[in-house]
Amino acid sequence: MAKDPVGDIGLGVNSRFNMTGRTALVTGGAGMLGPQHAAALLEVGASVVLTDIDLEGLGAVCGDLAELSNNLEIRSMSMDVTDVDSIWEVAEELDSDGVKVDVLINNASLDPKVGQDGLIGGSRLESFPVHRWDAELAVGLTGAFLCGQVFGTRMAAGGGGVILNIASDLSVIAPDQRIYRRMDLDESDQPVKPVTYSVIKAGLVGLTRYLATYWPDSGVRVNALSPGGVQTDQPGEFVEKISTLIPLGRMAALDEYRSVIQFLCSDASSYLTGQNIIMDGGRSVW
Ligand SMILES: NC(=O)c1ccc[n+]([C@@H]2O[C@H](COP(=O)([O-])OP(=O)(O)OC[C@H]3O[C@@H](n4cnc5c(N)ncnc54)[C@H](O)[C@@H]3O)[C@@H](O)[C@H]2O)c1
Repeated sequence: MAKDPVGDIGLGVNSRFNMTGRTALVTGGAGMLGPQHAAALLEVGASVVLTDIDLEGLGAVCGDLAELSNNLEIRSMSMDVTDVDSIWEVAEELDSDGVKVDVLINNASLDPKVGQDGLIGGSRLESFPVHRWDAELAVGLTGAFLCGQVFGTRMAAGGGGVILNIASDLSVIAPDQRIYRRMDLDESDQPVKPVTYSVIKAGLVGLTRYLATYWPDSGVRVNALSPGGVQTDQPGEFVEKISTLIPLGRMAALDEYRSVIQFLCSDASSYLTGQNIIMDGGRSVW
């Protein structure tokens, strides 16, 4: 019989996207994008462990996800990414239950959101409090380091795995503070994207490269995903302003990152490591 020149390109059981039998742990699982990452992974057959400090939020998310889980396991566990003991507790509980974490998604963050009233104030550099700098870096950057340390070490010892750090288009470009401006506020009160955001997201790209090359022969692949902003309930004026900065002319839809999550977490990306994948409607190339 003639050999199939293209091999298996379907999305069936032999697809490189198929994650049946793998387990993915998502930090910040009770937020806006965490459940989307989990849904993406369930769609390709992975079991998921959703972790967060917001237990009530996690309960609600797990209830919603159960409907599309196809009997795949969804666990929710309390885990504070700033607290190494809390991370160890989760790792040890999973070990004792025989659950191997094949994929870690470092997604937790303390980000002020652009809501109905614009960006929450108090972020101006001149008066940015060091306690807020410490708290935000502790979640977004130190948390990714600690989770990478605990779960990455296990992956390296256990035959490999995938770490995906959720960065942002602001890992490679500066925030354009003009899009947050409000006509009704004095100059000194104008909202800005906080300095911590840029520092954390750029730092995650450095952490990605470091980890990707730290365990070179272990089969641990480490990448970053840099998404552009998701459209939610932001004021229309803000959405219009940011859209003019984006070649595709719009913000992302909530579920639009699912396919790149599936790519980056599965064997579909088996020859990709140490990279920052920027999916931002083209914003960073303008
Ligand atoms: N939403 C966007 O448009 C967008 C765009 C680019 C990048 N991102 C990035 O994607 C990731 C998820 O964004 P999101 O919009 O879902 O954020 P979110 O604020 O909705 O969710 C963040 C979650 O992290 C959790 N968290 C906070 N502190 C924690 C801690 N100490 N330990 C564990 N969990 C903790 C929160 O409880 C929350 O559930 C973030 O890293 C964010 O920077 C988001």
